Amino acid sequence: MSHIGVFDSGLGGLTGYRALRELLPQEDLIYFGDNARVPYGTKSREVICRYALQDTRFLLSRDVRAVLVACGTVSSNALELLQERFDVPFVGVVSPAAEAAVRIASAKNGRILVLGTAATVSSGAYEKAIRALDRSVRVASVACPLFVPLAENGHTEKGDIAATAIAEKYLRPYTDFCADAVILGCTHFPLLSDIIADVLPAPVLVSAGAESARAMAELARSQGFAQGSGTDAFFTSDDPVSFAENASRFLGRPLGAAVSKIDIETY
Ligand code: DGL
Repeated sequence: MSHIGVFDSGLGGLTGYRALRELLPQEDLIYFGDNARVPYGTKSREVICRYALQDTRFLLSRDVRAVLVACGTVSSNALELLQERFDVPFVGVVSPAAEAAVRIASAKNGRILVLGTAATVSSGAYEKAIRALDRSVRVASVACPLFVPLAENGHTEKGDIAATAIAEKYLRPYTDFCADAVILGCTHFPLLSDIIADVLPAPVLVSAGAESARAMAELARSQGFAQGSGTDAFFTSDDPVSFAENASRFLGRPLGAAVSKIDIETY
């Protein structure tokens, strides 16, 4: 088996894919975005688990030997299920992001703010991972579901009126919390970094996608994965043209590879 597979509910996981490509330029990577069914973060755990199983079955049908779950919602609600059901290694976003944030917060005032989808926040997965590393850290979590459609639809420029108003509503109540680190616990959120930093100016922003890519790169190196030829392959469950148009904002570069449409309900 030759590829590393990466999936998300939509385009957000490309923030992890981008970091992984930089860390492992020779690996062959496959990305699946479930754009037809995004968002996952407003759905029940049962539905999130069903979608996660289908997404993984699709990747495994494509010659994948390890999976980066580049979705905070799936990582928080279904990672253990995937690890039980399938025989390949999985890396999720929660533990790597928690480790990075604890390193920062433990050296300062011990405060971490977690931003995620509703399903991520209600799972309590980030708090659990943080407390397992350092019980003295204070954690607050806030669900920011509207950040997902804002990021998918390009409302990410500093000063964007809609995004700024929504960020103010979600985050203004947490300015007094004085977080040392803010975990962008949904992989869509790094696109809104400038807008988030305008409301919460001081803390370090931790990208869950980028941290998970580092963990996957370590796994790949420790397991001595064979190097490929650095190919990219992109799959979506919705319109490939719109995927290609929007994906370059998340990747920070043109896609450089074709996008194929698949019917995820058949997996
Ligand atoms: N990128 C997903 C996450 O990290 C997306 C959110 C969603 O589908 O609601 O949670």
